[in-house]
Amino acid sequence: MTKKLYIKTWGCQMNVYDSKKMADILASLGYRAVDEPDDADLMILNTCHIREKATEKVFSDLGRLRSHKEAKAEKGEPALIAVAGCVAQAEGDVILDRAKYVDMVFGPQVYHKLPEMILQATGGQRVVNTDFPPESKFDELPVDAEAQGPSAFVSIQEGCDKFCTFCVVPYTRGAEYSRPAAQIIDEIKRQADMGAKEIMLLGQNVNAYHGAGADGSTWNLARLIAAVADVSGIERIRYMTSHPRDMDDELIAAHGDLPALMPFLHLPVQSGSDRILDLMNRKHTAAFYFDIIARLRAARPDIAFSSDFIVGFPGETDEDHEATMEMVRKIGFSSCYSFKYSPRPGTPGAAMGGIVSEKIKDERLYALQDLLMQQQRDYNSSFIGSVQPVLFDRRGNKGNGQLLGKTPYMQSVYVDDAPERLFGQTVNVRIEKAFQNGMSGTVDTTETILTNTSTPNKKAEAA
Ligand code: 5AD
Ligand code: SF4
Repeated sequence: MTKKLYIKTWGCQMNVYDSKKMADILASLGYRAVDEPDDADLMILNTCHIREKATEKVFSDLGRLRSHKEAKAEKGEPALIAVAGCVAQAEGDVILDRAKYVDMVFGPQVYHKLPEMILQATGGQRVVNTDFPPESKFDELPVDAEAQGPSAFVSIQEGCDKFCTFCVVPYTRGAEYSRPAAQIIDEIKRQADMGAKEIMLLGQNVNAYHGAGADGSTWNLARLIAAVADVSGIERIRYMTSHPRDMDDELIAAHGDLPALMPFLHLPVQSGSDRILDLMNRKHTAAFYFDIIARLRAARPDIAFSSDFIVGFPGETDEDHEATMEMVRKIGFSSCYSFKYSPRPGTPGAAMGGIVSEKIKDERLYALQDLLMQQQRDYNSSFIGSVQPVLFDRRGNKGNGQLLGKTPYMQSVYVDDAPERLFGQTVNVRIEKAFQNGMSGTVDTTETILTNTSTPNKKAEAA
């Protein structure tokens, strides 16, 4: 008999990827994914601990799952509740203590142990597993069972050794680990065989990748990307999330040399002030970041940048904030994420003096977001009238044949009344309208279906 599996996922793409992997393992135990928790036999919350109130959100959702579990129990059917992900890793014991109806709590490194954990929980034990086991879960997880679609995520690296003072990742995800290249390429080949045209290489600190290469040497990210570009059917390659310190010369050069490497980079900087960058233990200055941006633009003049910013880090003054604003004005981003600093228990930042008031954090965030949103609108508007290759990877839900996809620069584009056969294809789209978060257009009259179209233009001047 098939059992019903409900997974709710918070946070980054790594968690989305992990949830897919959990669903794959559980499929082999007879679980089928459902969209709602009612009547589910196993409910998993895959949690994120990176920003504020994470734990409270988990408890509020757990309350809801509890009522489903109780309703099922009244019918004489057991149901299991599990908390996975980084909140589980950081606060496993607290969860078991506060929520007696939770059956399993486990961190991101032990998903391959799900079958035995479920067996224990079914036998009435409460399971807590926040180990960092010596074996890699990647060696143990089943190979991709299902096609991800035209755009596929592949995790290549996990954990982080950087220890930025605001961040929980080094504590919840552990030390840096890179998957062997052969394993990654195999996974990508399988996805390509099932129709993937775009690969997003994922990792918490992805450009620190240093995995065992297919030829016995250690490969860096540039070398791995070159191998991915050789996989038949793969047209587009992206990677996320990178640290400025790990943008090495080869990786920068790859942006100019490899047409499949898309002209977009998410490169978090967090602050434009050297004093704050130092307090954050970012291991780079503002000048270092400007230099990386200039070198990437020299290699690939049309490259677009996005970033992450934190306002109101302890000790941040008006001058520090102005340095961040000035950096944004100078660089010009295509899209960005920005956050108010919130102390994460156990991180060095949480013990720092010079706390910035909520009011000032709000003001700074408002000013920064105003500027970033203006830049994003301007960037999208600059595409009106141009023709862009769009990989259609989603169907709209309006029932009018809407297809959605991405430009090489990571902008979302939708086209109404598009022929269904264009789904999964890279198609020329004439951009007609621009919005805050994307653009719309019509399929270019020639309706060209393209294969690799993104050509690095090495002769053009840097912007
Ligand atoms: N407070 C606010 N923002 C944070 N981030 C990480 N930790 C914190 C924190 N304690 C942001 C950073 C990071 C992004 C994923 O989340 O900007 O790059
Ligand atoms: Fe966190 Fe990224 Fe810093 Fe690592 S590099 S500690 S993941 S913010």
